[in-house]
Amino acid sequence: MNIILITGASSGMGVEFALQLDNVFQNIDEIWLIARRKKELLEVAQHLEHTTRVLDMDVTDDEQIERLKKLLADEKPVIRMLVNSAGYGIMGDFSVSNIKTELGMIDVNCKALTQITHLCIPYMRRNSRIIQLASSAAFLPQPNFAVYAATKSYVYSFSRALNQELRRKKIYVTAVCPGPVDTPFFDIAEKTGSTLAVKKLTLVRADQVVEKAIADSYHKRERSVYGAWIQSFEVLAKILPHSVLLEAMRFLK
Ligand SMILES: NC(=O)c1ccc[n+]([C@@H]2O[C@H](COP(=O)([O-])OP(=O)(O)OC[C@H]3O[C@@H](n4cnc5c(N)ncnc54)[C@H](OP(=O)(O)O)[C@@H]3O)[C@@H](O)[C@H]2O)c1
Repeated sequence: MNIILITGASSGMGVEFALQLDNVFQNIDEIWLIARRKKELLEVAQHLEHTTRVLDMDVTDDEQIERLKKLLADEKPVIRMLVNSAGYGIMGDFSVSNIKTELGMIDVNCKALTQITHLCIPYMRRNSRIIQLASSAAFLPQPNFAVYAATKSYVYSFSRALNQELRRKKIYVTAVCPGPVDTPFFDIAEKTGSTLAVKKLTLVRADQVVEKAIADSYHKRERSVYGAWIQSFEVLAKILPHSVLLEAMRFLK
């Protein structure tokens, strides 16, 4: 059985990946959708042509990860594509933040992504793909989004290294590094802070980011960076000292 497995499939870019991959892929038997909210997952499943399996689970819960592990061991699918889109960000001043929420970002964005990737690789074959949702926040530390940006630097670094490791198996990893994308992400992120106005100017649509990510993954590219603004930001973050950019950011509203 050939499958696609998508985490974060109840909202935003995860939903977009489900909808677009449903159209793009042939020879897929099932699409597995993972997130905590079952009702939303069932709604996404209704819009897909392929047979779906809805796995409502918290990716940070060890028992539920064990259940996924057992399901994979029982079904022995071939995972043609894994999309790790589950994640969240919380803005604000770290020193007065809720430490549980800060650590939760590390749990979902880093630990769970790493764990699910590790679980899935044994079921992948030549030409399977992994798409990891990093962020342009990986390119430069982000004051007032400090832990989130650090988690995304982790995802970016991990994904690029893993891509090299898996080359001999002909499995390809793409780190997706968007700037601000118009999804419910900001309903959570802005509970404790607000996005810089200059960043909001670069807001893009989820379907465009996902379409490019799928194309970049098809072409075996290690990174997917959508849009001229964010591509320019990446170049700036490579050529200018970060101390200068961080100082400049202090004056942005
Ligand atoms: N939107 C942006 O501006 C932006 C920019 C760069 C990168 N990203 C990254 O892109 C990814 C997708 O974000 P999005 O914009 O699509 O946000 P979103 O609409 O808020 O979707 C986040 C998804 O993650 C799932 N999730 C969160 N915690 C989970 C947990 N403990 N267990 C299982 N699922 C969990 C949510 O499902 P449930 O709540 O149902 O569990 C939801 O489906 C994230 O990794 C985000 O960091 C977003």
